[in-house]
Amino acid sequence: PDAPRIHPSILAADFVNMQAELARIATADFVHVDVMDNHFVPNLTFGPQMVARVQATSPIPLDVHLMIDDPDRWAPEYAELGAASVTFHLEAATEPVALARRLRAIGARAGVAVKPTTAVESLFDILEDFDQILVMTVEPGFGGQSFMPETMPKLRRLADEARRRGSAVWLQVDGGISPNTIAAAAEAGADTFVAGSAVFGAADPAAAIAQLRGQARE
Ligand code: DX5
Ligand code: ZN
Repeated sequence: PDAPRIHPSILAADFVNMQAELARIATADFVHVDVMDNHFVPNLTFGPQMVARVQATSPIPLDVHLMIDDPDRWAPEYAELGAASVTFHLEAATEPVALARRLRAIGARAGVAVKPTTAVESLFDILEDFDQILVMTVEPGFGGQSFMPETMPKLRRLADEARRRGSAVWLQVDGGISPNTIAAAAEAGADTFVAGSAVFGAADPAAAIAQLRGQARE
């Protein structure tokens, strides 16, 4: 799918009506699936058993965001169950390049995420090993937090470097993305946008997705 891509986060969905919730976002590009382990972040969601059922049920591909310790051990399982994209945190990985290559070998897009205060410069020489870089625009762990504009200079440096190198990497932002904040992230260089509460909190999620796409093009 072409940019701007909108990835609704099911963290903001009704967990006991997941099949109906997935049907409400069928016009989005990917469904964003937040896996949390209560160690890397102070919150707990679900693991591979649930993600396999989302994979079997979703009308659109899965963008799995792993907020877990030891992704070197656990991330390949999410690629094996069929997730189109698997993103692990740079802060948690021991061998990020080797892990990205394993994810690609299984057939998934390989993503790496950085928390709001983690520098992006160490990624410049390994951009080609990734299909997506996620710049967190809130501290990971919870939906419904406020967008952190102080992350935008880092995103802009990353976007400039990707352009300079002719990289096809997707630049994703996650946290506090709404019709009010998405244009600033797009202007700084993001092309792929996660939105939880802004989509699932709307009366009409399809309209919210369309509005976000429109605002990202402003
Ligand atoms: C936060 C998660 C996000 C979260 C975003 O740790 O990674 O994907 O669902 O939620 P909103 O869009 O409500 O900030
Ligand atoms: Zn996320």
